[in-house]
Order: sequence, then C-alpha cells, then structure tokens
Amino acid sequence: MADALRITGLVAGYRPHLPILHGVDLRAAAGKVTVIIGPNGAGKSTLIKAVAGLVPVSYGVITTEAETITNLRPDLLARHGVAYVPQSDNIFRTLTVRENLDLVLRHAGRETGDRRAALLRQFPVLADKLSDKAGALSGGQRQFLAVAMALATEPRLVLMDEPSAGLAPKAAQEVLEHARSLTERGVTILLVEQNVKQALRLSDHCYILADGRNQLDGAAADLLTDPVVGQIYLGGKRVAAS
Ligand SMILES: Nc1ncnc2c1ncn2[C@@H]1O[C@H](COP(=O)(O)OP(=O)(O)OP(=O)(O)O)[C@@H](O)[C@H]1O
Ligand SMILES: [Mg+2]
Repeated sequence: MADALRITGLVAGYRPHLPILHGVDLRAAAGKVTVIIGPNGAGKSTLIKAVAGLVPVSYGVITTEAETITNLRPDLLARHGVAYVPQSDNIFRTLTVRENLDLVLRHAGRETGDRRAALLRQFPVLADKLSDKAGALSGGQRQFLAVAMALATEPRLVLMDEPSAGLAPKAAQEVLEHARSLTERGVTILLVEQNVKQALRLSDHCYILADGRNQLDGAAADLLTDPVVGQIYLGGKRVAAS
C-alpha cells in the first residue's frame, strides 16, 4: 500500500530552538483513515499544522505520494493535493453558506456553479441553508461546511483537526462517518480526534502522541482492544471492536 503521506524525524515548533515535536514519524496509507490521538498539549495540532506549512519544520521530511512538501507555503497546499480543516475558526461566520463555498471555489480557480452543486450533493444538509449565515448553523452543520470548503480544491489528502469537537454524539458520529466515506473516492484522511473510541472504530491506523513524541501506533482495531490503551484513553474499559 502506497503512503499518501510520510513524515520522518519531524522536529517543529512555534519559536526557534523551542521544538514542540521531537522527531515524530508517521505514515498515512493512501485511501485510508489514519487517526492521531494523545493528551492535550501532546502536539497533535502542531503536527497537522506542520504538514500544512503553518508551523516551521527545523528537521525532518514530509512527503506526499508525489513529492517532498516540507515547509511548504500554506497557500500552495491545495496545488499539492492537500487540504487542511483547522480545529477552530474554520469558516467565515458572517458570510452565508453560499459565500463561504464560493470564496474557496473562486480562490481555487474553480467555476462556482457546477462545483458548488457537486459539493452540495455530498452535503445535502447545506443545500437548504445556502442563504443562511454560517454563524447561524448548528455545530455539526458548521463542521460539514468546513469539510465541504476543504474539498473544494479536490484534494487527495485531507488533514482534519478534531472535526467532532464540541458536537453532540450523533453529530460527531455523522461528521466522522462522512470523513470515512471520503476514502471510497480514494481520498486519504489524517485525523486528530479526542473522541477516541468513535475515531478508532472508523479508522484504519492509529498513532498515539505524547509530549511531542511517538508513543505507540498500530492497527486501529488492535488498539481498540489493547488493555493499556483502554486504560488510558477509553475510560478503563475494553470495548468490543464492532
Ligand atoms: N501558537 C502557539 N504558539 C506557541 N506555542 C503553542 C502554540 N500552539 C500550541 N502551542 C504549544 O504547543 C504544545 C502542543 O500544542 P498542540 O496544540 O499541538 O497540542 P494538541 O495535542 O493539539 O492539544 P489539544 O488536544 O488540546 O488540541 C503545547 O505546549 C502548546 O502550549
Ligand atoms: Mg489540538
């Protein structure tokens, strides 16, 4: 299985000489869901942001299937087939749903009408809300809009930072299931999640980060039934993998 993303020995941080990531390795298999979990402050968002070119990398290499993208300019990400859905502030609240979608479509040099219609077929919940201000959407609808905006550029790799954060369990499940469904189109998903049990059930592979370092990784189904992972991340109970 080819890797859609390969991160090797990544050292990165917000200030020079103050690394947050201390040599992280990660591989995201093409067309699969890879999830990153770990405690608050572990460096999960920093890792995703480093891939997106938003945090400077001082050592290490980031490659996609096609090329090296270490320290890529974030505005060139889409050109390299990568999209990033940030943990927060991922939509323009004062603009309508239509304006949010058209903004990214125009920025991506796409004709808005047909492409917007195609996106709305994937997110029917947004079709009824086109003229509503994005800030008036429910939390789940806002996340769908953020994902729809990321898909505007037809990426091959989508980086999602806690797409289910703050959502009610049903909405969280819908957002995660939609992320999973993108793999049916050959899209690769790299996901950060706090909703560990749900995320492991929907993912193929899982990395656990702690203190900016790899702690453990393995098949998501295996980690779901791993007693140590269960103790730390799943409330002390082993859960059925189904
Ligand atoms: N913009 C920033 N400037 C400086 N330090 C930052 C910045 N953002 C995060 N950090 C620091 O980097 C470390 C890792 O933060 P990061 O946001 O990557 O953690 P996380 O694993 O995503 O946590 P959470 O689960 O709370 O989202 C923390 O010590 C944090 O204080
Ligand atoms: Mg985070």
